[in-house]
Amino acid sequence: MTRPELHEINRLSWNAATIAHNSHKPDQAGFLKNGGSTLFPEEIELLGEVQGKEAVHLLCNSGQDTLSLAKLGAKVTGVDISDEAIAFAKQLAADCGIAAEFERSDVYPWLEAAIAKGRQYDLVFCSYGALCWLSDLPRWMSLVAGILKPGGRFVCVEFHQVAMIFDEHGVPTYDYWMPEPLHWAVGISDYVGDSCGGLVASGEVVNREPFVNPYPCYEFQRGMGEILGSVLKSGLRLRDYREYLHSNGWKPFKEMQALPGRRWTMPEGKAKIPLMYGMVAVKE
Ligand SMILES: C[S@@+](CC[C@H](N)C(=O)[O-])C[C@H]1O[C@@H](n2cnc3c(N)ncnc32)[C@H](O)[C@@H]1O
Repeated sequence: MTRPELHEINRLSWNAATIAHNSHKPDQAGFLKNGGSTLFPEEIELLGEVQGKEAVHLLCNSGQDTLSLAKLGAKVTGVDISDEAIAFAKQLAADCGIAAEFERSDVYPWLEAAIAKGRQYDLVFCSYGALCWLSDLPRWMSLVAGILKPGGRFVCVEFHQVAMIFDEHGVPTYDYWMPEPLHWAVGISDYVGDSCGGLVASGEVVNREPFVNPYPCYEFQRGMGEILGSVLKSGLRLRDYREYLHSNGWKPFKEMQALPGRRWTMPEGKAKIPLMYGMVAVKE
């Protein structure tokens, strides 16, 4: 069942967090204009050739990845529920002179309206902390299938559900899947400021002011079985599924080993666990 009332609470929490997150990223327009990209090699490989493709980037936040996709030649629309994120994305696009559309909406009514209008895409992309905000994953996947052209692809790179069972000290704390939404009274944190530069494309965190989010949030935790099962039930054909023993940008635990390219893996002496997965599913 879709929970729009919880999505609305999340919108407020994301608005506050997005302002804090962007305050840590210096000269984003200059970075993108001068050859920079916020996409990691993992998604670039799974995305394949995007030149000339009609693409939609769902849960796009402030549009940095959307604009990086546009720089690769995609005709891309970014969709996000956060007013602050979409306002920032539009300004960033104007400042960089990169063509992309941005639409502010809860992703469920946006997808329903797109299907009703007959909008069809070659590519649907989402990544890094997107699926956990979706209250009804099977419904979302079937809507994604509904906006893809025949031959169109759904590409997703996400943090792995196994990593979500641990607290920041690596202690198993949370159930692998949860039938009820997970309520966080503290809201969305300033994880960009806390990322030791991992979530800032230039690698440099600026303006480290303390941040308290006044709005709570709700996450939806599910296991890999439900995620892959939703893809399979949507009618899309799963073409690729990969797991990675490192995390791009996000430092999930206090003790991590830094790898080149703003990546983190488990420290020496600790068991390696999957920290990310990537998948490609195709509409036949
Ligand atoms: C972790 S961010 C995704 C970041 C993304 N990987 C990027 O390119 O920067 C999650 C995003 O999901 C958005 N979001 C959460 N619930 C949503 C919903 N129901 N509909 C649309 N966007 C939503 C939030 O506003 C936030 O910008």
